[in-house]
Amino acid sequence: MENNEHNKKYDDLFTPLEKEILALIIKAKVLNDLTEIKNKYLSKKGEFSILMNKIREVDDKKAFGEAFNFARKKLESAFNEKVEEFKRLALNEELQKDSLDITLPGNNFKSGAMNPFYKVKREIEDIFVGMGYTVENGPEVDSDKYVFELLNIPKDHPARDMQDTLYIDDNLLLRSHTSSVQAHVMEKANGKPIKIICPGKTFRRDDDDMTHSHQFAQVEGLVIDKDINLGNLKATLELFAKKMFAKDAKIRFRSSYFPFTEPSVEVDVSCFNCKGKGCSVCKGSGWIEILGAGMVHPNVLKMSGYDPEVYSGYAFGIGIERVAMLRYGIDDIRRFYQSDVKFIKEFNKKVED
Ligand code: DAH
Repeated sequence: MENNEHNKKYDDLFTPLEKEILALIIKAKVLNDLTEIKNKYLSKKGEFSILMNKIREVDDKKAFGEAFNFARKKLESAFNEKVEEFKRLALNEELQKDSLDITLPGNNFKSGAMNPFYKVKREIEDIFVGMGYTVENGPEVDSDKYVFELLNIPKDHPARDMQDTLYIDDNLLLRSHTSSVQAHVMEKANGKPIKIICPGKTFRRDDDDMTHSHQFAQVEGLVIDKDINLGNLKATLELFAKKMFAKDAKIRFRSSYFPFTEPSVEVDVSCFNCKGKGCSVCKGSGWIEILGAGMVHPNVLKMSGYDPEVYSGYAFGIGIERVAMLRYGIDDIRRFYQSDVKFIKEFNKKVED
């Protein structure tokens, strides 16, 4: 049935109440007003709905029904429209509250940067962990036994002079190298094979200048097993040099002396700056000294319970600041410890492979 095509015979019966309700709907201010209108007039027992009961009293029931339905539909659509209007208003209000002005300048989050020292430390760790090493720790304050004795440096040994350090009493001292961890690890391993690195702080009674600091850091490496030879050491350090400095880096061994290794070597890396031609970085030689290493001295093995006839091993000690200085062209070791934000920010950029 089309709205405007109904029989209008009984329209007047409904018009007064219809007008009253429509006026109330229009006046409604909040959703609750509509609920009240619905309860009072439009619900099943509402004043409007019960007008339908009058159908019993009329002759033309069809015309009555049409008139009732016509009025009911009008009221329903006015009512629903008002409900929709309130919903729209509520939504707008909500949107207004949560509105986001995308033209406003954003908050500038300042991100920090990692000190290049830690970058390099982590890189060294990653390189060796990638080769199957585990990372160990050892005490920074240690006894004479671990820092010297068990490393084949007895009390009267002149090599002690090279590492003048800071004593706490006659026996306790700040470790002058991470080599002290070798003896701790061997003690713990109790005769079993070892493959570790130990990064950590070291201390010496040095005058602080551009290349020396009373505190610096090393990464100690120690491998002990059957059939370990100097070739293994060289291959390992060459891989390290390639990953740390340049893909085509080469290394060379120069014979040296450390009391805890025999033979001992000083390890140079080919200059990654001039590729060996000679420049200011390598002081014209084409080579840069990067670390000390060697085959673990039989005395050291013996003192820590390894039979040198069965076991052999190699060890190395890398200066972390030295590697970082070379890697980034930093000329003063003190820069690592000064917490100068401007300096540290320089290293925000990703380190290239
Ligand atoms: N401990 C030495 C130093 O501080 C560095 C070193 C040299 C460590 C040779 C080693 C090594 O493990 O085999 O000067």
